[in-house]
Amino acid sequence: MTAIAIVGAGKGLGAAIARRFGSEGFAVALISRNQEHVDAVAAELAAEGVTARGYTANVRHPDSLSKALDQAGQDLGPVEVLMYSPLPQKEFLRPVLETTPADLTGAVEFSIYGPVTAVHQVLQGMRFLGRGTVLFVNGGSAARPNPKVAGTSIAFAGETAYGQMIHDTLAADNIHVGQLIIPGAISPGHPTHDPDVLAEALWAMHIERGEFRRYADTLDA
Ligand SMILES: NC(=O)c1ccc[n+]([C@@H]2O[C@H](COP(=O)([O-])OP(=O)(O)OC[C@H]3O[C@@H](n4cnc5c(N)ncnc54)[C@H](OP(=O)(O)O)[C@@H]3O)[C@@H](O)[C@H]2O)c1
Repeated sequence: MTAIAIVGAGKGLGAAIARRFGSEGFAVALISRNQEHVDAVAAELAAEGVTARGYTANVRHPDSLSKALDQAGQDLGPVEVLMYSPLPQKEFLRPVLETTPADLTGAVEFSIYGPVTAVHQVLQGMRFLGRGTVLFVNGGSAARPNPKVAGTSIAFAGETAYGQMIHDTLAADNIHVGQLIIPGAISPGHPTHDPDVLAEALWAMHIERGEFRRYADTLDA
């Protein structure tokens, strides 16, 4: 059995991704800052027959993230799929002229250092396995910078550049890297923004591979 590691796994999209990949036989590692949060999602999944386990890490603290991913691999099997989808903090979502260099520190740690840390941790295992998928999930400001949310706009640009580069570099190793852009809010029951619909889109990216970026909806949605 191989595993999917969901970095930033809550009750919304994280749980839906866990269910979708879990139903295909993946063991699921759920990672967030709060052990109780991930344990609650893991218990729901276990009741549905999915092998799932929660791990604590703050993506802004690289050592904690590396350690959680390492432990997940030891407990659940090699990480074949890495999903990077923590919910950005409100302080990253400030207007551009009110955003100071200090405000950007957290956003850069969150959206650039975190992804680089996670990929470095799982890459060797994917290469050994001979396959892998790395998926980044971002809001619309990753595709079109939005002056109302400067921190994510700036830091997502770095995350996107990193993702695009490793997409091109790792294709030869049978490792697909993709990015799903979700313009607007995730909303249960919505035809394109429901967590289960988005999880299905991420499953399709894992299976179909191909281009780096896909959109859950048009940017003006
Ligand atoms: N929600 C939206 O409307 C929306 C819109 C567009 C795009 N997105 C994207 O969708 C993904 C999130 O989906 P969701 O909103 O449904 O969230 P979710 O999967 O329900 O939860 C995400 C989890 O991320 C964890 N997290 C936040 N900061 C973290 C950190 N520093 N380190 C580790 N974990 C952290 C939080 O858990 P802890 O508190 O336990 O750490 C939170 O429960 C993100 O990629 C986001 O960019 C969301």
